[in-house]
Amino acid sequence: MSTQSAVKVVTTHVLSEMKLKGEKISMLTSYDYSMARIVDQAGIDVILVGDSASNVMAGNETTLPITLDQMIYHGASVVKGVKRALVVVDMPFGSYQGNSKEALNSAIRIMKETAADAVKLEGGEEVLESIQRILSAGIPVMGHLGLTPQSIHKFGTYAIRAKDTDEAEKLIHDAHLLEEAGCFAIVIEKVPATLATRVAKEVSIPIIGIGAGGGVDGQVLVIHDMLGINQEFSPRFLRRYHNLFAEMSGAVGNYIADVKSGDFPNEREQY
Ligand code: KIV
Repeated sequence: MSTQSAVKVVTTHVLSEMKLKGEKISMLTSYDYSMARIVDQAGIDVILVGDSASNVMAGNETTLPITLDQMIYHGASVVKGVKRALVVVDMPFGSYQGNSKEALNSAIRIMKETAADAVKLEGGEEVLESIQRILSAGIPVMGHLGLTPQSIHKFGTYAIRAKDTDEAEKLIHDAHLLEEAGCFAIVIEKVPATLATRVAKEVSIPIIGIGAGGGVDGQVLVIHDMLGINQEFSPRFLRRYHNLFAEMSGAVGNYIADVKSGDFPNEREQY
């Protein structure tokens, strides 16, 4: 039996053991109780309450509008549905940048009000003071480097990051800083596979990739993308495991037809 299935509760320690043993870490997003129950019972290692909730749950163009209160609402809903997975809640834009005291207060609110296991925040050296302060309160931190969607207005595009040497070197430097600070893992998003593989080899903490190739320690996807609920988003790195949009709209169509024809409810479906 693999460590993954034998483990009753996934902790940050379990994840570092998985890296040591070369066992890949599976991670998916969830934003609500019902989805989190399904994902957890299927055996996922880590559930990310991503600020991608801003896009897939609230219909915003970017992750910037989502608030700390809204992330706490999603986080608390997810935690209630989870028995085994490690739950990580994204710190939203504006809740940690440039002010480490505010960062600590935001992280404390997330931990107290959601009962999640850890927080994630985007950036390297520029947010190091915030990371250190949060860690000093005993709150586990997951980093996020490469394409960091909260900086979309700086990047101007969601295209692949760190293709040039300067940005690649900064990413490597930042990964080492986050490891030294005490982060338990780092998400690396949309960078060349060779670069992500190199980082995963150089640092001792797990590297979870999204669009970063197969040479890292684990993978994360947004659940609405991999289930095919969200049809508009089709980057090369996305593997669709289902076409839930078609399945759901078919079911809704059948319901509408049954209501209109008077077929629903039938005699057994009434009192
Ligand atoms: O918010 C999110 O869903 C994320 C993943 C894409 C890693 O940060």
